[in-house]
Amino acid sequence: MADTTSCKKKLQGKVAIITGGASGIGEASALHFINHGAQAIVIADVQDEKGQKLAESIGLDRCMYVRCDVSDEEQIKNLVETAIKTYGHLDIMFCNAGILSKSEQIILDFDLSDYEKLFAVNVRGVIASIKHAARAMVKGKIQGSIICTASVSATMGGPIFTDYTMSKHAVVGLMKSASKQLGGYGIRVNCVSPGPVVTPMLCRMSGLKAEEAEKAFERSSCLKGVLKLKHVADAVLFLASKESEFVTGHNLVVDGGFIAHG
Ligand SMILES: NC(=O)c1ccc[n+]([C@@H]2O[C@H](COP(=O)([O-])OP(=O)(O)OC[C@H]3O[C@@H](n4cnc5c(N)ncnc54)[C@H](O)[C@@H]3O)[C@@H](O)[C@H]2O)c1
Repeated sequence: MADTTSCKKKLQGKVAIITGGASGIGEASALHFINHGAQAIVIADVQDEKGQKLAESIGLDRCMYVRCDVSDEEQIKNLVETAIKTYGHLDIMFCNAGILSKSEQIILDFDLSDYEKLFAVNVRGVIASIKHAARAMVKGKIQGSIICTASVSATMGGPIFTDYTMSKHAVVGLMKSASKQLGGYGIRVNCVSPGPVVTPMLCRMSGLKAEEAEKAFERSSCLKGVLKLKHVADAVLFLASKESEFVTGHNLVVDGGFIAHG
């Protein structure tokens, strides 16, 4: 018979940082981690009100909000130090913060300054997050798990949003290299690559309300139904937990067959 008690406690005693944790995939993952017994979650974001509210709703005894712009390495260093000072160790780093292209960014009209701003968050931010989390894990002799949010855009080209597509390809390359370099320390590095899932970002991108966006993307997968935040959070939980203890350097696509379909 299945032991439901231990099933529910996949992250017992674990301390996690989630960048971009105030909204969408980050928020859903924070709640999922807590439901699975995490000792503490540090929400890192630039949306102070949302982040603080979420931390309070989880409980300030096991969740804190830290303002952190991931494009600034100093702020990430401070974030990791704060997590360790407060909770004693860091086991999971979920590098999830990301932004969309400012405009369509087709190659004939490509704005290089917007591309640099996007890369500062989507790529530079992930590099610095992996670097400082991994340093802390090595120093604390923690065999931790680092997860980065890439996208289905990491494995295909697109008619628009060229800089976003490039940034997600870069995240997968970074994850693969980091997994090789950190494997010897017992630190795993993986990506989760969601298909279109309703979050404030997807609504901004499509210009649709949540219910409309869900309807619009319903036929993007082979499976019946719609990709939900829970499906993505389940994949993140898997990569964060011991269930994936021999999985590293992997890009886990969660898209209901969107890529295969497309
Ligand atoms: N929603 C989708 O369909 C989808 C699909 C594939 C990949 N993704 C990726 O998932 C991740 C999360 O996006 P989401 O859909 O949950 O969107 P979201 O907008 O709900 O969440 C993104 C969070 O990142 C934060 N953020 C933005 N810039 C930041 C910065 N400089 N420093 C710290 N935090 C910052 C935002 O404030 C926000 O809370 C992103 O990396 C995105 O590219 C989303």
